Amino acid sequence: MSSESISRSINVVHPVTLSHGKNAEVWDTEGKRYIDFVGGIGVLNLGHCHPRIVEAIRDQATRLTHYAFNAAPHQPYIDLMERLSAFIPVDYPVSGMLTNSGAEAAENALKIVRGATGRSAVIAFDGAFHGRTLATLNLNGKVAPYKQKVGLLPGPVYHLPYPSHDNGVTCAEALKAMDRLFSVEIDIADVACFIFEPVQGEAGFLAMDPAFAQSAATFVR
Ligand SMILES: Cc1ncc(COP(=O)(O)O)c(C=O)c1O
Repeated sequence: MSSESISRSINVVHPVTLSHGKNAEVWDTEGKRYIDFVGGIGVLNLGHCHPRIVEAIRDQATRLTHYAFNAAPHQPYIDLMERLSAFIPVDYPVSGMLTNSGAEAAENALKIVRGATGRSAVIAFDGAFHGRTLATLNLNGKVAPYKQKVGLLPGPVYHLPYPSHDNGVTCAEALKAMDRLFSVEIDIADVACFIFEPVQGEAGFLAMDPAFAQSAATFVR
């Protein structure tokens, strides 16, 4: 599976070379079959090669394979955004944009929130994972392996304990840490946003205590 042409900076977890997949299974180039517990790191909710998805990709590929929306809008982008917006559980209109990766989404969220608030500080959480680009590295709540040997990272970013019934950190403890943060480290008036995963992945699949999310929301209104 190794090749001189692949950068050693990619830390490969499973040293097999895959050939194809179907539903929840994948096969390597030697024909060995595996149950796929990776699923594109949790994004292949319908498994591999679902016939309706394959058909939709094939259909679109015969019409238009790529166009930058900022150069000229196209209908499938608009249709998808309308459908995605309908999933956001708030009672006011929402808008969004599509990006190429999770890190790019997080980076753009930082730019948008800085522009909208005129503030720059971000509150993130211990154990968080937001990506591998320079700005998102600093949001991650883990030094190894992400923040080693990369030098100065864009800030300011502050981390709080992640309160969850799954890790034993209580809502009260996290709120206490937040009080300390705002009295010792940073003026709340300089905070642009909180960024958090409702369910952390890298940290070991922890769901945030909803009581904390509700309390934190009152700070940013
Ligand atoms: C919560 C979260 N944010 C951002 C990312 C980064 O996504 P990408 O690897 O597409 O940049 C991930 C990837 O696993 C993620 O789980």
